[in-house]
Amino acid sequence: MTLPIRLRLGAATLASLLVIGSAGASGRGPAERLKLEDVTALALDSLPPLPRDAGNVRADEPAVADFGHRLFFDARLSANGQVSCATCHDPRREFQDGAPLARGAGTTDRRTMPIAATAHSPFLFWDGRKDSLWAQALGPLESAVEHGGTRAQYAHVIARHYRQDYERLFGALPDMREVPASAGPLGDARARAAWNGMSRVDRDAVTAVFVNVGKAIAAYERRIGYGASRFDRFVAAWKRDGKAPADVLQADELAGLALFVGKANCTQCHNGPLLTNNEFHNTGIPARAGLPDDRGRRPAVAAVQSDEFNCRSRWSDARPGECAELEFLATASAALERAFKVPSLRNVAERAPYMHAGQIATLADVLRHYNRGPAAPAGRTELKPLGLAAEELRQLEAFLRTLSGGVTGPAGYLAPPSSHE
Ligand code: HEC
Ligand code: HEC
Repeated sequence: MTLPIRLRLGAATLASLLVIGSAGASGRGPAERLKLEDVTALALDSLPPLPRDAGNVRADEPAVADFGHRLFFDARLSANGQVSCATCHDPRREFQDGAPLARGAGTTDRRTMPIAATAHSPFLFWDGRKDSLWAQALGPLESAVEHGGTRAQYAHVIARHYRQDYERLFGALPDMREVPASAGPLGDARARAAWNGMSRVDRDAVTAVFVNVGKAIAAYERRIGYGASRFDRFVAAWKRDGKAPADVLQADELAGLALFVGKANCTQCHNGPLLTNNEFHNTGIPARAGLPDDRGRRPAVAAVQSDEFNCRSRWSDARPGECAELEFLATASAALERAFKVPSLRNVAERAPYMHAGQIATLADVLRHYNRGPAAPAGRTELKPLGLAAEELRQLEAFLRTLSGGVTGPAGYLAPPSSHE
């Protein structure tokens, strides 16, 4: 039964090799119909310059980023002295951890996301409940299952270990003598009581230090990007030579690319040079047993609008009218029920498992999911079953594997800072 299919696809693959080699014009197989304009927008060299972060005027200062680099790797910024951002976002693993759920002071309900090029992303987290990298960075620091500490505790760490560097960049630290060792609005009952016992002036002074920690970490993260992959070299050579190069992608990878931009419809959501539209969609990913219901984007719309650190907050440097993403944010509709952020597919083959709670173990299983397009556990899936043949799923997977190009950053940024820095 499978024999005729294999024969037919085998012939198409062979033909695509020949035709692509001589310009990629007309032909019968999907790969032969590939046009440069179908793929050029997916290449890394069409990535626009980093958007300005209106909420963080220090975002592009190298000295602030160097400071953020040190904070990103500093486990003293945690309740037990053992958790840094890099615990979960390991630069040797695409800035993630390879686990279905992340482990910090406790276990999270979602999978660690890679952070390269996230400065291009208007909303952060799987549900987009933060609207900037600096506001995002403050979340894990105060989360009981991640860093597990409080903002007063972190202000003390800065005063004790980074006084000079901090004051050089951000001005005088507040007088910390009256500030409790641990206090914050999101901590346990004791930390909250200590926070409520502080004067408003002291609370604001501590929060200002906390916010600068987030802004410095964001300045560091902004400089982490993606390296060019074999796919990018393919598009670059095509643009340069006016014809598709014959020796950069294999026939099955090309056929997979043609499916990706064609009948598999992946570019409906995974488009642009980061292979994401930066939006939120319900794709019917099954729930992970044992976790609370995860409604995704729907409740997060209100969360970002009322976030203490959003672009319109008093901690933001943005001027009125500069928070366009927040102004034009759609209201939470039923379509956002269990919708999650479309992840970039760059380096995707290097960082299994997949989806917001690591529900899917391998790329082959991801493609089987898309092929079936099952009903969603809540809300409605936007997928339609694809009905692709096994050979086509293998071709799609082969294409996804051409998107690996590592991560990039200024010298030293992909490792812990050296002690003399
Ligand atoms: C315990 C593991 C853990 C630690 C520690 C941690 N993260 Fe994360 N990170 C995650 C998880 C899990 C998510 C997704 C959570 C969600 O969607 O609710 C995430 C998401 C993110 C994102 C969103 C990326 C995107 O595409 O939207 C960024 C950026 C990020 N983390 C940066 C940081 C920074 C900066 C720190 C340190 C201040 C940090 N993380 C500490 C596990 C961790
Ligand atoms: C309707 C929008 C949409 C379409 C169409 C779509 N995706 Fe996705 N993709 C998503 C979303 C949203 C997620 C994350 C879902 C989640 O975690 O719940 C995702 C996740 C993935 C992942 C896992 C990445 C990771 O880091 O976890 C892969 C791989 C992937 N998609 C590949 C594809 C391929 C290949 C196609 C075409 C067959 C495709 N997608 C079509 C929206 C889409």
